Amino acid sequence: MIDSTPMTQAAPDATLFDQLAAIKGVEIAPDEPLARHVTMGVGGPARWFVTLDSVEAAQAAIGLLRSSGVRWMVLGGGSNTFFVDAGFDGVILFLGRGLRAMTLGPGERHVTAGAGATLSSVMNFAKRAGLAGLEFAAGIPGTLGGALAGNAGTPKGDICSLVDAVEVIDAQGHFVVRQRGEFEFAYRSSALRHDLILRATLALCPDSPEAIQERITQALTKRGEQPIGVRTSGCTFKNPPGDAAGRMIDAVGLKGERVGGAWISERHANFILNDGSASSADICELVSIVRQRVLDHFGVNLELEIKIVGLDSDNKTH
Ligand code: EPU
Repeated sequence: MIDSTPMTQAAPDATLFDQLAAIKGVEIAPDEPLARHVTMGVGGPARWFVTLDSVEAAQAAIGLLRSSGVRWMVLGGGSNTFFVDAGFDGVILFLGRGLRAMTLGPGERHVTAGAGATLSSVMNFAKRAGLAGLEFAAGIPGTLGGALAGNAGTPKGDICSLVDAVEVIDAQGHFVVRQRGEFEFAYRSSALRHDLILRATLALCPDSPEAIQERITQALTKRGEQPIGVRTSGCTFKNPPGDAAGRMIDAVGLKGERVGGAWISERHANFILNDGSASSADICELVSIVRQRVLDHFGVNLELEIKIVGLDSDNKTH
């Protein structure tokens, strides 16, 4: 996920608002509650929540924002990200309908999709076309763009192995098509997080929709061991080399641990859940407790897989 974080931050002002609002394909919602846009369901408002509906709108908006010095970032499906209770005093960019379209091609085995499409809609589109490879993604929430930025995956596969080309706006504001080999994909990470991801072409394998559906069902059954249909950001921590964060948190006896409205799932200890009354601060405190306990017990510093915007590495808001 791209985050401008300039050294000096200008406040968004009325002139910038008018300039942005004048771009075709840009819509601005002031003081938009970010809790509505993240699966964890917490966090304060964004100064401006800006929806982009085309590549051209995205490029023009980024051009303006870059020269303004205002802080801005792109939000995907909000399934791996949430914001502090103070919100985000800048511009949140969000991909609208025009950047969610899916097509077959350019090659026979290719699907090309807008980065704002959900991963599950891309998987189902590919299935209907008899193209396999995305089944590992069954049950993973979020958008294709978010999945590419964080190299979403499970032990059964990850998105990086499927990507042929990605259209982005780079950190300098230029439209660039990145090819396989340029993504620096690693465990839950990729160089694409520095770009605004617009569209991607995935190279898949022909198979029958029935066989694909069977693998989707298997992946969903595995997911059934995890909390679903609840307010959560999924796995909170990355797995440290050779171990599983869920196993470690379970082993130190933290299942069911609660701070305010936030608690650790009894089903899978790497999931923090919001019972509907949690604040962002509750979740951050629980994150600290887990880290400290696992550090004391195993000598391992768990790294966050989720992104908490507005919180620095010492758990202080900024
Ligand atoms: N475990 C426990 N207690 C728990 C949870 C897990 O002892 O409360 C043990 C399990 O028994 C197993 C090991 O920990 O031996 C690993 O657990 P699991 O098979 O559930 O996989 P995971 O490593 O915890 C990873 C991904 C998940 C993905 C599953 C699919 C990471 C951090 N997590 O979980 O991704 O759904 O594999 O198998 O890579 C996510 O990214 O949001 C996410 C949930």
